[in-house]
Amino acid sequence: QEPAAVGAGSVKQQLSKLVISSLRTTVPEVDVEPMVEVCTAKFGDYQCNNAMGLWSRIKGSGTSFKNPNAIGQAIAKNLPPSDIIESTSVAGPGFVNIVLSNSWVAKRIQDMLVNGIKTWAPILPVKRAVLDFSSPNIAKEMHVGHLRSTIIGDTLARMFEFSNVEVLRRNHVGDWGTQFGMLIQYLFEKFPNWEEVGTQAIGDLQTFYKASKNRFDGDPEFKDRAQQAVVRLQGGEERYRAAWNKICEISRNEFDLVYKRLTVVLEEKGESFYNPYIPQVLEELDNKGLIKESEGARVIFIEGHQIPLIVVKRDGGFNYASTDLAALWYRLNVEKAEWIIYVTDVGQQQHFDMFFSAARMAGWLPDPKEKKFPKTNHVGFGLVLGSDGKRFRTRSTEVVRLGELLDEAKSRSKSELLQRLTENGKIVDWTEEELEATSEAVGYGAVKYADLKNNRLTNYTFSFEQMLSDKGNTAVYLQYAHARICSIIRKSNKDVEELKMSGAISLDHPDERVLGLYLIRFAEVVEEACTNLLPNVLCEYLYNLSEMFTRFYTNCQVVGSPEETSRLLLCQATAVVMRQCFELLGISPVYKL
Ligand code: ARG
Repeated sequence: QEPAAVGAGSVKQQLSKLVISSLRTTVPEVDVEPMVEVCTAKFGDYQCNNAMGLWSRIKGSGTSFKNPNAIGQAIAKNLPPSDIIESTSVAGPGFVNIVLSNSWVAKRIQDMLVNGIKTWAPILPVKRAVLDFSSPNIAKEMHVGHLRSTIIGDTLARMFEFSNVEVLRRNHVGDWGTQFGMLIQYLFEKFPNWEEVGTQAIGDLQTFYKASKNRFDGDPEFKDRAQQAVVRLQGGEERYRAAWNKICEISRNEFDLVYKRLTVVLEEKGESFYNPYIPQVLEELDNKGLIKESEGARVIFIEGHQIPLIVVKRDGGFNYASTDLAALWYRLNVEKAEWIIYVTDVGQQQHFDMFFSAARMAGWLPDPKEKKFPKTNHVGFGLVLGSDGKRFRTRSTEVVRLGELLDEAKSRSKSELLQRLTENGKIVDWTEEELEATSEAVGYGAVKYADLKNNRLTNYTFSFEQMLSDKGNTAVYLQYAHARICSIIRKSNKDVEELKMSGAISLDHPDERVLGLYLIRFAEVVEEACTNLLPNVLCEYLYNLSEMFTRFYTNCQVVGSPEETSRLLLCQATAVVMRQCFELLGISPVYKL
């Protein structure tokens, strides 16, 4: 598929191209990757750090360079002419400091306003990725861990899609396994006319699961029948298949309610989907000599692990690992994905380490030292804690009901909004629909942002008070910041759509320049967040951007100043970038608050 518009990549990517060209001239004998970073010193905006490493590679080989500084000087001198770079200087052991040209930065921003932010998409090294996320288990509650997986996975998917990668969003639901015998048998007994009753009538699946489990544990004859049911289901018997379908349907309806509220799109390909592929996949692994017998089970021994990876249980059944091997085979060979990413809690780290190793032993994945793709990653995340420091729960229930959690986020944000609007006498300007939509955007956005802003590996404490506060690094604060920019533009009574075509941006004031440079870093931030699979990088950027805007707005008069046009365009560009960040984080922006 043709991407909407492909820009030349992030600033870093564009500078890297110039650096590559310079390196070819400077040191034609060595092949190195360009090292371009944002400058840490005051002397430049970006810097090229190749000289030191190059020096240690070529010194003593008869090179004419006297020291790393001389290499840095040559790299700077050999940069091809370009309108990106204003000037360069070389510091210490050859760091090349690069100052960007103000007019290029200004033009880049204006181009984005005219042609759309999609032109700022970074260029990623893959065309198609599988993102396996959310993935709750049928008939069991979708818990906070699944909420984290849903939120983190959706953000990563959005960032990849923005970067023109085709993303297969996969919901790897737990819809297969021995528990289905019990559930089906219980369905037959409890609802003899189950084929006619609507999914509604069967009601809450958690309760259904518990009741059937009690029956299973308490009645050996029921247990027998349940075990028979598994066999008949796996044998493909029509009636059992239909009952299984019905049970999955009920779960699916419940999950979909949550996805809808979170505006998350997923395509279900559950464990059952891969079941038919398991035998052939295991046969392939067996032919490669990877599968061994151990205590009646069939296993793969993996270097560095105490216990082997079980792929066929002692009773002959397949398991989580055999399903994952078959799914990976399918994703690589049928779906032709170059990057396969799994989002689950860190507790599953070992499972992923082991089955990725097995895939490498089978030759499915290249040695990472030789080739980068296809590759797999486990995106692990920590726990959500309650204010007591223990695993987060609501009231006395075992797990948090996600629907209730979202209800509460919305109602709290609505009452705070109402209170604020009443105090400021603004309540009259709001329709009921606006109130509803805004409380949802703010409330759900707060839940998502509170999760995403942390490095995903750390545990975080769930607190409605904190996430709904309008101070500090919260979604609410950011929503206010964005709405304020929109209101500045509205109050100017200028048509920015017209200004962006006729006016021009200049960055003469230092705070304008700082803001402009930060705006154009957007693409490389998205690139970094995708490369390292870290959504918090984008949150940090969004928060810093709003701080930089505040500094600019405090020190540079916008409306009524001689620079009004340029400054309004900077306001608009900031609002556009902030909205794109919200979009990538799955948060609906609010235009008035
Ligand atoms: N259903 C699993 C769970 O709830 C998560 C599945 C993750 N995906 C995978 N391919 N293993 O823990």
